[in-house]
Amino acid sequence: MKIVGIVGSVRKQSFNKMLANYVATRFADKFELDVLTLEDLPLYNQDIENEAPQAVKQFKARVAEADAVIWFTPEYNGTMPGVLVNAIDWLSRVDKVMVGKPSLVMGASMGALGTVKAQGHLYDVLRSPGIDSPFLAGSYQVVVGSVHTKFDENGQLTDAATEQFLHVVTDQFVTFVQKQQGK
Ligand SMILES: Cc1cc2nc3c(=O)[nH]c(=O)nc-3n(C[C@H](O)[C@H](O)[C@H](O)COP(=O)(O)O)c2cc1C
Repeated sequence: MKIVGIVGSVRKQSFNKMLANYVATRFADKFELDVLTLEDLPLYNQDIENEAPQAVKQFKARVAEADAVIWFTPEYNGTMPGVLVNAIDWLSRVDKVMVGKPSLVMGASMGALGTVKAQGHLYDVLRSPGIDSPFLAGSYQVVVGSVHTKFDENGQLTDAATEQFLHVVTDQFVTFVQKQQGK
């Protein structure tokens, strides 16, 4: 199974990027996770959506090829960051590559409940007609809180409970994606 991981932070030391890279490596036996960051994605502009810049075409093509998407979102000012909204706006238009493609949302934060509001807003947007991405009913939120205490300096997760939680969640998501594909 091929999954794209879309990271909503362009910061070099991003915890969400760290989480995405960890999931890619740790669960490589379950799926191939292609981690995408958004620093080279231009601002969405309806004037050019049909003749989009190369960076947009490449980004959409990588999402289109994938069986599913895992979103890794920080929380900025009580919602998801603008870079993520920008990416969603591109994905929601013209060929609408997200429609029918399953999603899972994760978020890492130094606070206990950081990303809960951002994740709620992201799930709302996943229901919008241009995205229309199925996700697990009653989806619980994959919040990795106090993240700075759970990863070591090499990006390795040191918290056994979080590792076990991610293991269960990714198993359930793989099963969900297979069901969506009629397998
Ligand atoms: C502009 C800005 C707004 C933020 N707003 C929130 C917020 O509303 N809630 C929260 O829990 N953390 C907030 N934070 C803290 C971020 O969650 C924290 O910086 C996090 O590490 C960002 O994710 P990253 O490590 O993947 O870059 C904010 C940070 C920035 C820079």
